[in-house]
Amino acid sequence: MTVIATDSAGLVVRGLTTTFETSRGVAIAAADVDFDVAPGEVVGLVGESGSGKSVTLRSIMRLIREPGKVSGRVEWQGRDLVAMPEEELRRIRGSEIAMIFQEPMTALNPVLPVGLQIEENLMAHTRLSARERRARALELMNIVGIPAAERRLDEYPHQFSGGMRQRAMIAIALACSPKLLLADEPTTALDVTIQDQILKLLLDLRDRLSMSVVLVTHDLGVVAATCDRMAVMYAGRIVETGTVAEVFARPRHPYTRGLLGSVPRSNVARTMLSSIEGTPPSLTNLPQGCSFHPRCSFAAAQCLEERPPLETVARGRKVACFRQEVVAKAEAIL
Ligand SMILES: Nc1ncnc2c1ncn2[C@@H]1O[C@H](COP(=O)(O)OP(=O)(O)OP(=O)(O)O)[C@@H](O)[C@H]1O
Ligand SMILES: [Mg+2]
Repeated sequence: MTVIATDSAGLVVRGLTTTFETSRGVAIAAADVDFDVAPGEVVGLVGESGSGKSVTLRSIMRLIREPGKVSGRVEWQGRDLVAMPEEELRRIRGSEIAMIFQEPMTALNPVLPVGLQIEENLMAHTRLSARERRARALELMNIVGIPAAERRLDEYPHQFSGGMRQRAMIAIALACSPKLLLADEPTTALDVTIQDQILKLLLDLRDRLSMSVVLVTHDLGVVAATCDRMAVMYAGRIVETGTVAEVFARPRHPYTRGLLGSVPRSNVARTMLSSIEGTPPSLTNLPQGCSFHPRCSFAAAQCLEERPPLETVARGRKVACFRQEVVAKAEAIL
C-alpha cells in the first residue's frame, strides 16, 4: 500500500483567524478558517460582500498589515507560511504562490511600465536572460488577450483600461508558472469572451503544472464550470464545503441554500449569487450562537445559544449547522 505523505499535500489551512482593531472594537474578519486545496485542485470560495474572502486570501499570503493580526496555520507543501521568516516567504511569493488581487490598481506599480513589471517578477524568480524575459512578457501579454502587446509592454498602468489592467495583473501572476494561485475575482471586470479565455488558461495551467487554485467569485456559472470543490463563507467563517456537484445538488447550510437561491440547478451559466433577505452581522458584534440565525428560516432554540462547529457530515463534506439534516431534506427551492 502506498502511503501518501501528508506533508506533501498542497495547501492546508487550519484555524486561520484574522482580526482588526476598529473604533467599534475588534472585528473578526476571518474566524477559525479551515480548508485544504490538493495539488491540481480548483476550490471556489463564495460568500456575500464582507464575508472575509479577500481577508482569507491576504492572510494566506501574509499580506495583512499591522495592526491587523493573523493566527493559525497555513501549510504550503509542509511548510508553515505564518511562521516562516519574511525572507523565505518573499522567495515563495510571486513564484510558487501567486495572487491575483481584486483591485488591480493596488497591485500594479504606477510608475513602472507594465512589461517591466512582468519582467521584474521573472528576474526575481527565474534565470532567464533579459531577452528571454522580454519575449516571455510579450507571450504572457498575448496569452491574457492584451491587444498590440508589443507596444503596450512599454505603457504604464494608467494608460490601461480596468479590464486591461486586470489582464496585466493576471500576466504578472502567471509569469513564473505558480503552483498555487490565489485568484480574487480575477475575471469580474472582463467581458465574457475574455473571461472564458482566462478561465480556460487557468484550467490549462492546472492540468499542465498541477497548479492549485483558490478562486473567489460571485458567479455561480464560473464555480460550476471551473471548480472541483467549493467553500462558502459567512461572517468570517466557512459554513459549508464539498464538491461543487454535491453542494449545488443538495446544500446543507441554509446560507448556501439562500446563495444558490432560485438558480435552476441545470443551468447555472453566468448566474450571480442570489441576495438573501436581511443584512450580514457586524463583525465587531456578532450575534450569539450561529451568526446566521437572525436571517435563517430553519433556526431552532439551540442555534440562538450555541455556535455550530464545522463538522464532517460525509466524505469530503463539512457543514456548520445544527439543522443540516433538515436543510438537506427540504424541498428544492424551485
Ligand atoms: N484593514 C482592515 N481594517 C479593518 N477591517 C477590515 C480591514 N480589511 C478588511 N476589513 C473588514 O473585513 C471584512 C471582510 O472583508 P473582505 O474584504 O475579506 O470581504 P470579501 O468577502 O472579500 O468581500 P467582497 O465580496 O466585497 O470583496 C469586512 O467587514 C471588511 O470591512
Ligand atoms: Mg473581496
